[in-house]
Amino acid sequence: MCGIVGILGLKPVAPDLVDALRRLEYRGYDSAGIATVENGHLDRQRAEGKLRNLEARLHDAPLSGRTGIGHTRWATHGRPNETNAHPHMSKRVSVVHNGIIENFRELRTELQAKGHNFQSDTDTEAVVHLITEEMDKGLSPVDAVGAVLRKLRGAFALGIIFAGEDDLMIAARQGSPLALGHGLGEMYLGSDAIALAGLTDRITYLEEGDWAVMHRDSLQIYDIDAKLVDRPVTKMTDAARLVDKGNHRHFMAKEIHEQPEMISHTLANYLDMATQTVRLPDIGMDLSKLTRVTISACGTAYYAGLVAKYWIERYARLPVEIDIASELRYRNAPLPKDGLAVFVSQSGETADTLATLRYCKAQGQKIASVVNVRTSTIARESDVVLPTLAGPEIGVASTKAFTAQLAALAALALALGRARGAITQAEEQCLVRALMEVPRHISKMLQDESNYERMAHDLSKAKDVLYLGRGVNFPLALEGALKLKEISYIHAEGYAAGELKHGPIALIDENVPVVVVAPQDDLYEKTISNVQEVAARGGRIYLMSDAPAESTGCLLDEYIAMPKVHPFIQPLIYAIPVQLIAYHTAVFMGTDVDQPRNLAKSVTVE
Ligand code: AGP
Repeated sequence: MCGIVGILGLKPVAPDLVDALRRLEYRGYDSAGIATVENGHLDRQRAEGKLRNLEARLHDAPLSGRTGIGHTRWATHGRPNETNAHPHMSKRVSVVHNGIIENFRELRTELQAKGHNFQSDTDTEAVVHLITEEMDKGLSPVDAVGAVLRKLRGAFALGIIFAGEDDLMIAARQGSPLALGHGLGEMYLGSDAIALAGLTDRITYLEEGDWAVMHRDSLQIYDIDAKLVDRPVTKMTDAARLVDKGNHRHFMAKEIHEQPEMISHTLANYLDMATQTVRLPDIGMDLSKLTRVTISACGTAYYAGLVAKYWIERYARLPVEIDIASELRYRNAPLPKDGLAVFVSQSGETADTLATLRYCKAQGQKIASVVNVRTSTIARESDVVLPTLAGPEIGVASTKAFTAQLAALAALALALGRARGAITQAEEQCLVRALMEVPRHISKMLQDESNYERMAHDLSKAKDVLYLGRGVNFPLALEGALKLKEISYIHAEGYAAGELKHGPIALIDENVPVVVVAPQDDLYEKTISNVQEVAARGGRIYLMSDAPAESTGCLLDEYIAMPKVHPFIQPLIYAIPVQLIAYHTAVFMGTDVDQPRNLAKSVTVE
């Protein structure tokens, strides 16, 4: 949601804070700011909008302190303007915050009754006044923070510096991720390791409820009961350091084109290429005894889970219950005894997905997670992790993580099928061979994007777009609609093609483009009859299929020729056109492709 950084440096920290914030902009970018301790005083610069606005402010009025904190914001409380931008501060303390302080209204009311004047509408500012109040009572900065943390409810990560304290920074984590970095005579804090990649590769991850008292040459970490604890220093992977666009215009374009490589990496983790069989980490239970699998996730990750439902039911003959995390966590759904719950998440920090994981764990489920960040909270709270080796995904619209999730989930489906005797070894080998072909097919498809540029020109004029799909490709219609709306801001809806005549067909006229995901499989004829229903009402048809265009019997506005592939891998292959349609439409419309309005890469609040 927001990105926070902090540096106890040996030289002026402002440039490094801004560089670290740039690595975090994908988490939110409504406004940004930094604060430093300079000659014992707190000073700050903030700006509405993108980081470059803050850089302009700092150019005109530089900060030279060697102790500082910074923040890039995705607004939860209070409009995205300078007044609400972090850091928030009093004369004694400055705070940056990611997450939500759920009891901030009662805290604010109590503080205002005591005469505290609030400058902003944010929940964060209540923390500033609480710490200031404790210090005014004579408590030291550390004791003041310890006292305040016990008053806060919600999910948050905090970075805190103090007037008159050039060698002190305090970090706190309850529910939102926080990493500490160890430099040479310097110390750092950041929302994730990527933020610190330009400063160090030696990282300590705070656990739930931890808070840290940082000095340039020492670090004390306390748990929620203020007991001193020891957390390991780990070496960050090189992947986290590779955060740049290469020769692509946008991170999203780079990440779409990385898919052949990243899918290969992910498949290599799960397939024994020699025997052409699946090799899954031990899930720690007898998969043959499972009566049902529960899957939960949000957004694009949910659509990957929905594809997995079709695969697991088809190839493992095992029922799957799937729901979006924000619904499953409150449904009080009955779960099977000794069941398996699978969570899918690129960031591994999505609040709703994490909360549902904890619900399922409390219900005695074995927890498996398909995550792209091995050090994430969801990964660390799972019994077994099925990693997607997609590398850092910076574009807010998920692309390579989605297809890497499909690759990992495909392996899980085959492992379940083998364990339950639902597929023979020969069938497993055939399906594994099909998976092994995916990178080659995608590489070929990415060689020519000209028809997507043509489609973009048409779609950019639309007010509403429908996406249709059937069977295992229905989730691709949902994903295509999400991709288009989240980066081009055009309203789009994904529908099961068979649902069209149950209402949505009323929307069809010559102004409504209909994008159809229709591989030539056993549902093709039925989908084409839906296409003909659209054509009969003047709808504009954009068809992606391996069947010949003329087989539809109607005039198409655009036809995307797809490779003939095994039905098992169609979702991975058809993900590419739905990504490229969205990307090129957004580029044509001039929206901010990597950092679309109102969004953030990781939704770490409910
Ligand atoms: C996908 O393009 C969106 N950015 C969003 O729906 C995302 O998939 C969702 O927020 C889940 O994120 P996660 O995979 O990090 O849990």
